Amino acid sequence: MLHMKKAEKYELAMKEIVAVWDKDIHLTGNLANITAILKTHFDFWWVGFYQIINNKLQLSAFQGPVACTQIAKGKGVCGTAWEQEQTIVVPNVHEFSGHIACNSESNSEIVIPVMCYNSVWGVLDIDSKELNHFDETDAVYLEKIVSFVSNNITLIIPY
Ligand code: SME
Repeated sequence: MLHMKKAEKYELAMKEIVAVWDKDIHLTGNLANITAILKTHFDFWWVGFYQIINNKLQLSAFQGPVACTQIAKGKGVCGTAWEQEQTIVVPNVHEFSGHIACNSESNSEIVIPVMCYNSVWGVLDIDSKELNHFDETDAVYLEKIVSFVSNNITLIIPY
């Protein structure tokens, strides 16, 4: 069941994301705005994108503390979401085997793969200081946001 108050916040965030998307600038600027919108509306600790370059997830636009710059396929939550091509919700990162702790304050996490032409382009990764922060409402709406990115990624200057 969807959490309605949270759903309303996501609806508002999505409107802002669509409104500020600028097809006439490079991708990273647009991704940076998405992380800013999500960080502003929600009590997230870290929000960011990793992009697959040279067969590694490489750090892209983010909001929050300094983060790991490279993640291999199958490693950590991000590399696992890439390998499995599906959203991963981790209620307690300390119980996720292979979790990569970029920051010791993080306790729960959600990672959503960003698809492009039927293969994984990268991931959206969000960390929370709270245990068990992310639920089905987050997964549903973050997948919608990522789907918007996927649908627009090819129409934009790709760096
Ligand atoms: N925790 C992630 C690494 C990225 S940071 O959280 C920003 C993982 O296990 O893949």
